[in-house]
Amino acid sequence: RKMLLVDVDCGVDDAQALMMALAAPQVEVLGITCCFGNTTVDHVCKNVLRVLQVCNRMEIPVFRGASNSLLGEINPQFSHFGSDGLGDVGDPNSPGLELLQKEDAVHALIRIIHQYEGQINLVALGPLTNLALAVKMDPSLPKKLKNLCIMGGNIQGRGNITVCAEFNFFMDPEAAYIVTNEFTCPTFIAALEFTRENCLTMEDFKNWVHQDTEKARFMAKITAKWPQKSSFVSYDSYAMAAVIEENIITEYEKCAVSVELHGRYARGMLVLDTDNKWKKEHKAILMKKCNINRFKELLWNALL
Ligand code: BDR
Ligand code: CA
Repeated sequence: RKMLLVDVDCGVDDAQALMMALAAPQVEVLGITCCFGNTTVDHVCKNVLRVLQVCNRMEIPVFRGASNSLLGEINPQFSHFGSDGLGDVGDPNSPGLELLQKEDAVHALIRIIHQYEGQINLVALGPLTNLALAVKMDPSLPKKLKNLCIMGGNIQGRGNITVCAEFNFFMDPEAAYIVTNEFTCPTFIAALEFTRENCLTMEDFKNWVHQDTEKARFMAKITAKWPQKSSFVSYDSYAMAAVIEENIITEYEKCAVSVELHGRYARGMLVLDTDNKWKKEHKAILMKKCNINRFKELLWNALL
């Protein structure tokens, strides 16, 4: 079984991706590290524990990580998934934060990656702050990873948080810069456009959450206040699906990448060196197309 570490800023789609991994027999989740992003890091930790509870997997260790970006300029209250990141529906039975590990996310990443050298698939679904801190603490880290798979960035300069930037990269552009430049392991990226181009329909979404299972009822509850859109994009689930089943991604593009840190409009934008002007050896592997039917199956299994 593939070994996974998952770094999240647990909003609704992180929860969907986590549930997909927990339901997939091909992978084993060794730990979940939490970062601010969709909500505060404390809410993120709580949300992860709620997901583990509903999936009956409370034995998986959860680690608290960064509460703000490297420059500390973000107000992590913002979220389109409600202020608590999971639709603000409350949960009287939600597990308490005393269940978190005492060790912090950054040290946990370093420890576990060393422990299983060459075997860990690191899946990053939020701002990249924990990963950036970890590589600064231990620059040998990327060499010890099997691969890194990121949901983040945008390839056509059209963002979802600012005009030019995608949410995860924009929340900590310096961290995204450090990670895209220093994680020289095979790095897969599910950028915003890719997730949108491979979206599901709202019809799919309704059928999905209306299954008669406890997990589906949980999903229906936390998504009840979602604004009605024309399509259903579970952003983070694409990065997770690619790790669970590599051949679910049917088309890739290899390209050196970095992140814009300054600029009047484009801070946090993913920058692609498609003409190899930087002559960088390390190329990211951008996902282009996926097998949507198989993706749907993985997503469906998540709620059974
Ligand atoms: C990303 O931003 C977050 O809000 C989602 O959880 C996802 O990771 C999409 O841009
Ligand atoms: Ca996320």
